[in-house]
Amino acid sequence: MTPLTPAAVEFIPADYFAGVTPGSIFPDSSRPLELDVGCGDGTFLLQMAGHYPERDFLGIERLSGRIRKICRRAVREGLTNVRVIHLESAYTLSWLLPAGCASRVHLLFPDPWPKKRHAFHRFVHPDNLAGIHRVLAPGASFLFKTDHADYFEEATAVVDQSPLFTRLPWLDATEFYPTTDFEQQWLDQGKLIQSARWQRQELVL
Ligand SMILES: C[S@@+](CC[C@H](N)C(=O)[O-])C[C@H]1O[C@@H](n2cnc3c(N)ncnc32)[C@H](O)[C@@H]1O
Repeated sequence: MTPLTPAAVEFIPADYFAGVTPGSIFPDSSRPLELDVGCGDGTFLLQMAGHYPERDFLGIERLSGRIRKICRRAVREGLTNVRVIHLESAYTLSWLLPAGCASRVHLLFPDPWPKKRHAFHRFVHPDNLAGIHRVLAPGASFLFKTDHADYFEEATAVVDQSPLFTRLPWLDATEFYPTTDFEQQWLDQGKLIQSARWQRQELVL
């Protein structure tokens, strides 16, 4: 495949209000697609893309500096299976991306909003669960990691109680799952990292 330019790594929808078609992000929509929600500087995203050339990876990030950095790094590393979208995650999952497009959604070290009065900003809440469920293909999985004990407890309670997901054990230790940029910072500070994984359930109406 022809190497990408930094501009081509950024996925810019033709119409932000119309929803995107499966083939408009990557040329072959039959390949597995994994989403990294709030991908930050993209170390996890880029390592996954390098390790799994047979899969495609889309990072969602709202900070433009981080988007530009990932685009440059993807080109430098010769990756053709990674794209980033500069957009708010809830909108991207709930409306923009095609339903059932993803084989995995990774939500890694989302902003913890540690103050009690700000906790309603946390990404894991029932509205966003519907968006995550919407983009996952049948049987696909949602993976979550945080260093924040209170957020972990709250998020796992919300997802465990939801009929949209059932809990799975965390990945086998031999499976490739690189450390993220924020994770490395917390590990260096000796913080405890907690992880959870769920499978998308079919809704019986
Ligand atoms: C704490 S950082 C974690 C980054 C990365 N996942 C990691 O583990 O290194 C959270 C990231 O999510 C992004 N973010 C937060 N809320 C977002 C939203 N609503 N939409 C898109 N990105 C968001 C932030 O800009 C930031 O880059």
